[in-house]
Amino acid sequence: MPCKLRGNCEACIVKNKEEGTMAHCMEKVAEEYGAKLPLRYPATKITKDVKAMSKATAKIVKEVLQKTPDALLCFPAGSTVIGTCEKLKKMVENKEIDFSQAKFVALDEWVGLEEGEEDCTYFLTKHLYEPLKIKPENMRMFNTKAEDLQAECKQVDEYIFAQGGIDLMILGIGMNGHLGLNEPYDDFDSYAKVVELSETTKKVGQKYFKSPTKLTKGITLGVRHIFETKKVILQISGAAKKDIVYDMYQSQPGEEIPATVMKLLTDGEVIMDEAAAQRVADLIDK
Ligand code: GLP
Repeated sequence: MPCKLRGNCEACIVKNKEEGTMAHCMEKVAEEYGAKLPLRYPATKITKDVKAMSKATAKIVKEVLQKTPDALLCFPAGSTVIGTCEKLKKMVENKEIDFSQAKFVALDEWVGLEEGEEDCTYFLTKHLYEPLKIKPENMRMFNTKAEDLQAECKQVDEYIFAQGGIDLMILGIGMNGHLGLNEPYDDFDSYAKVVELSETTKKVGQKYFKSPTKLTKGITLGVRHIFETKKVILQISGAAKKDIVYDMYQSQPGEEIPATVMKLLTDGEVIMDEAAAQRVADLIDK
C-alpha cells in the first residue's frame, strides 16, 4: 500500500507487503484517533430496506441535534441519502426535530461544470436545505468559482475547525469505494482538496445530470476530516453496491478503497440494506 503519512516509511511498506497488513504508520494514525486494532469489520447495522435504513439514520440525526442543537452536519449529494432527507422533512413538519441552529458544511462538489448545470449544492438544496428551511448563514458550501481553489479548501477547513469540528457526517459509497470525492489511492492524510475524478466516477456521475456532462475534477473534504468527525454514518443501499461492499469488508484499511477508513473510526457505523449487504451478511454474523 503506498503510504504518505510520514516521510520515511519504506520499511513499513515492505513489512506491509510481506504480511498483507496495514502499513504501520496507518495503525499509528488510527490509534491516535482511538481505534483498537486490528479491526476486521466496521460497526454495521443491516436493515430490511432503504426505508428502514433512512429511518435509522434520521434517528441518529435527531439524537445528535438533541444533544448539540447547533451541531455541524455534513450530508452527501447522492441518491442514497434522499430517503433520509424525506424522513427528516417529515420529522420537521411533525416538530420532532429542530434544525434552526444546525449548521451544514458541504462534503464535495464537481469542479468545472458549465453554468446552470445541477451540482451537489443544487441537489442538497432541493432535497435537504430547502425542505428543512436551513438559513444561508448556517451553510458553508464549496465555491468552485473561486479563483484560488486551494485557498477555498483552506477556508472550508478553517470553517470546520472554527465550529469545533463536524459533529455528524453522513456518507454514501461510490461504486469504486470512494467517500465524498476521495477516490481510490488519494492520500488519506489530507483535509479539503481538489481531486482528479476517476473514470468510474466520471461515468457513474452522469446519473446526476439531465444530459451527458463532462466531469473532470472535484473538490472534497479529505479523509482526515472523516477521521476527525465525531460521528460518521456510511449509508449503502441496493444490490448494485454489493460487490464494493464485499471488497471493502474483505480489505485491510487503505487508500485503495477509501471506504475502508470506516474500520478505523472510533464512532463510525455502516447502515445498509439487505440488498447491499447480501455478500457480507453471513461474515458479519459470525
Ligand atoms: C457520489 C458523491 C458521494 C456520494 C456517492 C454515492 O459520487 N460524490 O458523496 O455519496 O458518490 O452516491 P449515490 O448515493 O448516488 O450512489
